[in-house]
Amino acid sequence: MDAYAALLPRPVKARPTSGFFQLTPDIPVTLSGSGTTHAMVGSFLAELLRPYDNAIPVNTTGSTEVVITDSEGDPGTYTLRVTPERLEIRAGDSEGVAGALTTVRQLLPDSIWRRAAAPPAEGWRAPCGVVEDRPAYGWRGAMLDVVRHFFPKRTVLRYVDLLAAHRFNRLHLHLTDDQGWRVQSLRHPELHTTGSWRPSTRLGPDGPDDGTPYGGYYTLDDLAEIASYARLRGITVVPEINVPGHTSALRAAAPGLGRPGEPQAVLDTVWAGGTSIAPTAATEDYLHDVLEEIIEATGAPYVHLGGDECSMDWWSEDPEVAAAMAAAGCTEPQQMHGHFLRSLGRFLAERGVRMIVWDEGHLTGGVLDDSIVMAWRGEEASARAAATHDLVRSPLFPTYFNFDQSDLEEERRSEGGPITLEDVAAFTPAPDSWSPEQRDRVIGGQFQIWTEWVPSERHLDYLAFPRACALAEVLWSGAVDDMAEFRARLGRHLRRLDAMGVDYRPLDGPLPWQSGGTGVWRRSSPGRIKETRAWLESISGRP
Ligand code: ACM
Repeated sequence: MDAYAALLPRPVKARPTSGFFQLTPDIPVTLSGSGTTHAMVGSFLAELLRPYDNAIPVNTTGSTEVVITDSEGDPGTYTLRVTPERLEIRAGDSEGVAGALTTVRQLLPDSIWRRAAAPPAEGWRAPCGVVEDRPAYGWRGAMLDVVRHFFPKRTVLRYVDLLAAHRFNRLHLHLTDDQGWRVQSLRHPELHTTGSWRPSTRLGPDGPDDGTPYGGYYTLDDLAEIASYARLRGITVVPEINVPGHTSALRAAAPGLGRPGEPQAVLDTVWAGGTSIAPTAATEDYLHDVLEEIIEATGAPYVHLGGDECSMDWWSEDPEVAAAMAAAGCTEPQQMHGHFLRSLGRFLAERGVRMIVWDEGHLTGGVLDDSIVMAWRGEEASARAAATHDLVRSPLFPTYFNFDQSDLEEERRSEGGPITLEDVAAFTPAPDSWSPEQRDRVIGGQFQIWTEWVPSERHLDYLAFPRACALAEVLWSGAVDDMAEFRARLGRHLRRLDAMGVDYRPLDGPLPWQSGGTGVWRRSSPGRIKETRAWLESISGRP
């Protein structure tokens, strides 16, 4: 397989020519572009050339050069021309440059993916050729739940590298939930001092209490660092502050925002549950402080406000919430749910930030005209959202990668499944059965990893890869056209993941130490994906 045929995701056009281009430490770079592109290229070259601290072939003739521009073509697009004398990138913007740099990296020997490696005897050589490329979808994302289990900054930065290696361009961080609040607040420090940890953990709804404190959070500086690191790799960080449900940790930190008289605590079971905050002006003021801090730290053009799985039964009975509902002209809690999200969305809009909600928020009217919806439930929920709003496809099937990858007995305990590599490869973000208007509303898709059953980085790798490789191809190339060809190319691509030290799931099943064994991680029941899908359709019309 020649290097241009081995690219993953597959470019629109890629054709080898003859000869090689040699990258050297002293190579002259001509760069015209934005500050982000300058910093991106600088960091890319510094990373690539870092292994050059030893004697390796060095071109001293000065006869090769790199030329990069980020202002030719549509956003996200790039053309790469590699000749023996010149490596030339003409991209539409810095995201396009990032895509091109990933392609360049994939054309070099696999050991370039190591943090430091002696290059092969002939040096870092890329075979000559031409790539003309554009993404099928502008939003190619990954959602990581850092709440149920926390992943430290170093893991997130590494995750960014793994995403960039597949030309993903969004990292959605699910920062808050019932089981923890994972970001510092200078204005409300109780959020990270109280909300960021639980005294004990139960795995699953009826697991035994382990009696061990568990927690962690990112400082605002950490978050800024993650966002900046990601930006230099063509990835936008999308923070999620999940309200008004999934808020046990918020209520533990600020009990006044919850139902009066109810005990408030960070949930100790890593399972969905808990009630909601009061959708009042006082709660909005509190959240404004938090949102401002997050926007300032990340520079995020999008903030996800959650809106899913909110139990709001108590709202009509509570005098303060009932008064707020009356003032807003809402007679039903569901209307108030929509009103509350819209109001926060306007706050974001005033700061130039687009709001995102899960599909329940769309159903209750908790959206502005330009809001983005992530529909996680059935096809009905996705189709309904696409009729009126921009949609990022994130349906449980097949984008919840925390579900098992096969029906093998050896898979580890999870929420069920299977959601296989083939299921992901067959995913159609914009189904033919939708109207052209609905299809146009699909701006992309993303995979999610909810971490109820994911306590370690190694298990995260296992669940993400290689399914993420298939989703990358769907979102960048539009589809996996030929599964046999894709599998062969993926086999080749796994060597890059080996060099990066990724604990992916081998194509034929888990390694012994990746399986569940006979203890607590034993797979407890065979997959029930059919039943799960039927259940999702059945709840898709409920807020
Ligand atoms: C979700 O899975 N509740 C978004």
